[in-house]
Amino acid sequence: MKPVKVGVLGLGTVGGGTVNVLKRNAAEIARRAGREIIITHASAKDLQKPRICNTDGIILTDDPYSIINNPDIDIVLELIGGAGAVKDMVLTAIANGKHVVTANKSLIALHGNEIFAKASEKGVIVAFEAAVAGGIPIIKAIREGLSGNQIEWLAGIINGTGNFILTEMRDKGRDFNDVLAEAQALGYAEADPTFDVEGIDAGHKLTILASIAFGIPLQFDKIYTEGITQITRLDVEYAEQLGYRIKHLGIARKTADGIELRVHPTLIPERRLIANVNGVMNAVLVKGDAVGATLYYGAGAGAEPTASSVVADVIDVVRALTSDPENRVPHLAFQANALADIPVLTADCFQTAYYLRLSAEDKPGVLADVTRILADHHISIEAIIQKEPSATDTAIPIIIRTQRTLEKEMNAAIAKIEALNTVTGKVNRIRLETLG
Ligand code: NDP
Ligand code: HSE
Repeated sequence: MKPVKVGVLGLGTVGGGTVNVLKRNAAEIARRAGREIIITHASAKDLQKPRICNTDGIILTDDPYSIINNPDIDIVLELIGGAGAVKDMVLTAIANGKHVVTANKSLIALHGNEIFAKASEKGVIVAFEAAVAGGIPIIKAIREGLSGNQIEWLAGIINGTGNFILTEMRDKGRDFNDVLAEAQALGYAEADPTFDVEGIDAGHKLTILASIAFGIPLQFDKIYTEGITQITRLDVEYAEQLGYRIKHLGIARKTADGIELRVHPTLIPERRLIANVNGVMNAVLVKGDAVGATLYYGAGAGAEPTASSVVADVIDVVRALTSDPENRVPHLAFQANALADIPVLTADCFQTAYYLRLSAEDKPGVLADVTRILADHHISIEAIIQKEPSATDTAIPIIIRTQRTLEKEMNAAIAKIEALNTVTGKVNRIRLETLG
């Protein structure tokens, strides 16, 4: 059989890693795919730039459309990034009858509904395993391995840069900006690193996971996101005293009223495996009604771990080339005409436990005032720590771990606590999940 011809758009971290893996493992890959797969063309913005891959034998161009419009190319790999110019590149590739493999979570989260509809019309595949959790085959696991289950919830550390920063700050006391610069140098961070640290990248990934888990359209605009920039060393230490670690989680949970979709720092019990996922590693916990809780772990970013997912998608596409488009695995796991219109809940309706840290005057009755406000809002306290005042500050830190409650009750209680004359500053609130 004729070799399958691949054109690569983007030769940066992921594109370079993909060229290396496809070349190095070519023989093994051909044995798996049943056909030889060759990269004939690749594009980058600056053709003079040094590359992490060997481009011998590949025709290089700075015009991605010369690849997209080349009739000899069967599969286009979109490894540029962003949701702007590349949207047209992907839609043009689809219109030209080409299969597309992408690592681009923002593109899929923001424009996936349109892209998959166009791909289905043309009978082509758009594969995106690398878009979520780098090298972990989490899309395949949920879409195929768990397809007999009703997914109840999932929770994941799905941004490698953020987890790398939190780990280095906690373990080595390093400065936030210093670790972020290292993550950028290692090729982990997004072109705009605020996407990593403000939870936008994790929000894109959670959009995709929720869609394939629950059979709902992609709805990034309904995701609640909070980043890691507000986490203090003090909170990390107090959380540990209570037996918890702070991780930046993406959580999707189906409730009787709708679906919670939220990305935020979260206290989780230190005995959970996921609490011990460090550095650039990612992990996703998925709870299915039949299988129970399952955990997927691996590198969440980096050249070759991500290339592993890109290449697996290329092999899947090659295997499917001869199959009838109607009989392929649906892009979003559920048949396109069977997506459900389940409401996505607003933050007021979230149900979770909380860690609260506040600073109060060292006077009789202060603690009683705070606990009365919580009780008035039906919020039960699980643990409470009152610290000694420090030599330099007469205010005392109070740390409270609550039971699960409705977020709107917690917001109202926090507003009243902050209004007490004896409480100074803001209440620092971090959500807490037991993930049991
Ligand atoms: P890089 O910035 O390292 O690479 C982007 C590449 O695209 C570069 O080669 C750049 O060219 C090229 N490029 C940029 N603009 C254009 C353009 N207009 N036309 C043609 N080529 C262009 O990004 P990454 O490899 O890190 O990321 C690529 C995608 O993979 C993104 O969607 C990202 O979110 C995703 N991803 C990244 C992971 C990672 O660990 N880095 C992990 C998982 C997904 P030049 O080199 O000449 O500047
Ligand atoms: N910037 C992303 C991260 C790349 O750090 O997780 C992988 O998607």
